[in-house]
Amino acid sequence: MSLLNPKPPALNDPVLVNEWMAVAKAADISKPTRVSVLGEDLVIWRSNTGVHAFRDLCIHRGTALSLGKVSNNQLVCPYHGWHFDGEGQCTFIPAQPDLPIPTKAKAFSYPCEEKYGLIWVSLGQPSKGVPEFAEADDSKFHTIICGPYMVNAEAPRVIENFLDVSHLMWVHEGFLGVPEHSSIPDYHVHETSGKLITDTITVFQPDPDGRGKDVNNDYIYQVLRPLTVQFTKTDDQGSDVFAIMLHTTPLAHRKTMAYAVLTRNYGFDMDDNLFRDFQDKIFSQDETILLSQRPEELPLDLAAELHIKSDRLAIAYRKWLRELGVEIGVA
Ligand code: FES
Ligand SMILES: [Fe+2]
Repeated sequence: MSLLNPKPPALNDPVLVNEWMAVAKAADISKPTRVSVLGEDLVIWRSNTGVHAFRDLCIHRGTALSLGKVSNNQLVCPYHGWHFDGEGQCTFIPAQPDLPIPTKAKAFSYPCEEKYGLIWVSLGQPSKGVPEFAEADDSKFHTIICGPYMVNAEAPRVIENFLDVSHLMWVHEGFLGVPEHSSIPDYHVHETSGKLITDTITVFQPDPDGRGKDVNNDYIYQVLRPLTVQFTKTDDQGSDVFAIMLHTTPLAHRKTMAYAVLTRNYGFDMDDNLFRDFQDKIFSQDETILLSQRPEELPLDLAAELHIKSDRLAIAYRKWLRELGVEIGVA
């Protein structure tokens, strides 16, 4: 392999390569940091113009740039001190300061943005911006990050689990539902503006968010992108609104990193860790199920598993992945 030529990522997918993937919490990027996405190692670093993502490889001798440092808003390679600016252009070669810089002296740079407390990267050419999470953009809401959750399962399985309303009473019994209230009201899934969105689905929840306050919650689920989804739930008074955007990043075959962006319009004086701890517990309950599912890849052939009416969202999600042509994590 030549260092001079970019190569497709180890987990190559014609759709996901052009999607935005969350790779780190923004608060964790105080120095050059190695992250992984679709089997590729990247370095994320900050300058005064924002965050940057490069292949974690110096063009000179293949050293990991993440071992370097930032100096004067340039990323400095740890081996021979070549300097790279935010676009990846080499600006200084200490061993020959008076000679022109070779035109091929560049770091391989990827689109990179900071939003909702996360660092987002695309390995290709994204046709849209970072997924939009409307509630978190609303100043009446308070937003926190949960995760990353590392799970040895395929990303589409993790997403479908999040979209599955009829497991709440069983996997999260006593928290997000109770078996006596398992019946799912009829609902439909609509495709609008390139997203999937459900009708309202009401679920009785003994402890919907960690506060221990039982309520009938009205859920609306949305599929924003192949690996980015959200639900918004509103209590029966119509006052407390709680929403989660779940994003999953495939790291390797059957290895996924998930972030949950939580936002709420109440309890601003409450300890955020109460909500984080609760979400950690919920995710660990889901993980037990995810690790047990076979096949590991989400079957897109609807004849491969048995579906019922309450699975309408999962059916729509599988059809949509198939139409889009997603290949990673699906069968
Ligand atoms: S390997 Fe990076 S400057 Fe030499
Ligand atoms: Fe769950």
